[in-house]
Amino acid sequence: MRLLLIGFGTVGQGLAELLLEKEQILTDQYGLKVQVVGISDMLKGSIYNAGGINLQQALKLAKSGKKLSEMPDNFDGDAVSLITTADADMIVEATYTDIKTAEPATMHIRTALEKGMHVTTTNKGPIALFYHDLAKLAKEKGVQLLYEGTVMSGTPLLNLIRETLAGCTITEVKGILNGTTNYILSEMEQGLAYDDVLKKAQELGYAEAVPDADVLGWDALAKVTIIANTVFGEQCKPDDFPCKGITEISSEAIADAKSRGKRYKLIGKVWRDGNTVKGSVAPEEIDMSRPLAGVMGATNAVTITTDTLGDVTIVGPGAGRNETGYSALVDIIHVGGLR
Ligand SMILES: NC(=O)c1ccc[n+]([C@@H]2O[C@H](COP(=O)([O-])OP(=O)(O)OC[C@H]3O[C@@H](n4cnc5c(N)ncnc54)[C@H](OP(=O)(O)O)[C@@H]3O)[C@@H](O)[C@H]2O)c1
Repeated sequence: MRLLLIGFGTVGQGLAELLLEKEQILTDQYGLKVQVVGISDMLKGSIYNAGGINLQQALKLAKSGKKLSEMPDNFDGDAVSLITTADADMIVEATYTDIKTAEPATMHIRTALEKGMHVTTTNKGPIALFYHDLAKLAKEKGVQLLYEGTVMSGTPLLNLIRETLAGCTITEVKGILNGTTNYILSEMEQGLAYDDVLKKAQELGYAEAVPDADVLGWDALAKVTIIANTVFGEQCKPDDFPCKGITEISSEAIADAKSRGKRYKLIGKVWRDGNTVKGSVAPEEIDMSRPLAGVMGATNAVTITTDTLGDVTIVGPGAGRNETGYSALVDIIHVGGLR
């Protein structure tokens, strides 16, 4: 399995570390030899070696803030020209998310699929906005488009839905899809005001300096759209669903809900209503007896309602270097080792 890493930030480097750490397991358990043959990053530059690049050296340079182009395998070109030129089987797309245009990630993914390369991405933009076009292209080219890391990072929600629950009819998927807002709501339960908790979340690195994507619910909305398309095979777009964030919830409202045995959670959900697929993102009062109510801090959790098993709940991390790197690793194993 010859890989190209497109984007060598937190997730790209997290995956690179896992590939080094788990090299033996990949060979012994899956008969899979993974070789990173190229990396392209906006500021760090691009490298390519058909025989495999020195991943340890690439990580060392990236961590010390140096450019990859200092390596002997310097490739004089951007991500698209690397994908077009390189001899590789699969790309890992882990550049930044632009939820309005989904670029440049969609261009990277499209270029790879057109060339007959498998793709895994952790980038919500292309999957929320262009899933059907990209999945159709992948099918035409006989390759796989996987995106486990776009929802709940490495916690295997999409694989659970796609494979482990095969044969069940899913009627609803509902959960806490954004760790930042769950952290804020959890802290507000101690009586702290929204603005103070947001500031703390920013200091701890949980929230961005411009926190809109999290607190207004847009991040959860992109994930709801991805789940809707995965579960129900629809051509949903984020604009199809109503979306409300947590900015209007006061610590008094949270205390009041608690006194009634309820807890506020920002809930993203998708369900089938007759022939229509519906979705929404909004704060909800969840009864304390429900599994989602007990999920605190930056953790994510989703309850899947099925005809055969009833409710199945999965709880786990929704972000992180290792966690999201792992989502790409498991997709690589699915393509290369479980065929
Ligand atoms: N981190 C998480 O926990 C997590 C969880 C789930 C999903 N994700 C998603 O995974 C993706 C990567 O996240 P991250 O945390 O690794 O972000 P990051 O640390 O900001 O890394 C993104 C990398 O992509 C590079 N890049 C930007 N435009 C590029 C281009 N045109 N060509 C090549 N490289 C380009 C950036 O380069 P420069 O910095 O050099 O400009 C940066 O190194 C994002 O879409 C994110 O939403 C992340």
